[in-house]
Amino acid sequence: MTADSLREKFLGFFKAKKHKIVESDSLVPKDDPTVLFTPAGMNQFKKEFMGFDCGFKRAATAQRCLRTDDLDKVGKTSSHHTFFEMLGNFSFGDYFKEEAIVWAWEFLTKELSIHQDKLWVSVYQEDEETYKIWKDKIGIPEKKIIKLGDKDNFWPAEAKTKGPNGPCGPCSEIFYDFGPGAGCGEKICDPSCSCGRFVEIWNLVFTQFNRKDDASLEPLPNKNIDTGMGLERLAAIMQGKQNNFEAELFQPIIKEIIR
Ligand code: GLY
Repeated sequence: MTADSLREKFLGFFKAKKHKIVESDSLVPKDDPTVLFTPAGMNQFKKEFMGFDCGFKRAATAQRCLRTDDLDKVGKTSSHHTFFEMLGNFSFGDYFKEEAIVWAWEFLTKELSIHQDKLWVSVYQEDEETYKIWKDKIGIPEKKIIKLGDKDNFWPAEAKTKGPNGPCGPCSEIFYDFGPGAGCGEKICDPSCSCGRFVEIWNLVFTQFNRKDDASLEPLPNKNIDTGMGLERLAAIMQGKQNNFEAELFQPIIKEIIR
């Protein structure tokens, strides 16, 4: 399945669930002094998360992104880039955790037919509600739901202690397991391991706080959803490749350089 058809499938899936399809914002944000480049789908919706009424409560995008934090990893991992596209669905005070989780699972396992055995999830260590949704509603075995802390399962990472200010919240991530042969072989190897066996494909953020100058977390007027899934990672998985650079988006460029 090509990246173009995956992007179309994703936007069509959320359009059918009453999301407004919004164009990608510019890679250089016009009026956000907190970032140099657009790092995520949520950036163009910060005002909506703060309570501004834009006339719709559900949106979906394919956002062009550049993460300066990722640059040092490029060339060293199979899944970090200088540029990538993020598929995202957003709720501004409308649906919350349960729908976001159920729809993410439906998209991956039904629309894309990814076998559920290949998927693991992580939840924020204090978020029992999300743990229960994955365990009881979706039926994920407990050993495949791992609890992680501020660095991995709060978004932006470590925002609680280090900032930036603005909308933030606990998150839950979905990982694809490339299998034991792709990993470090250690006895304990799970999505918290950075050996490359597990690749994060989708982050579901429960955006419910506004971080302020004094590092306090003020509850937002509404509970919101912000999700982000890397198109290049998903395309690689759907094309049976473990390394994004071996998949359809990069191969023509690499072949041209070699020629
Ligand atoms: N905003 C969610 C993410 O970038 O992972």
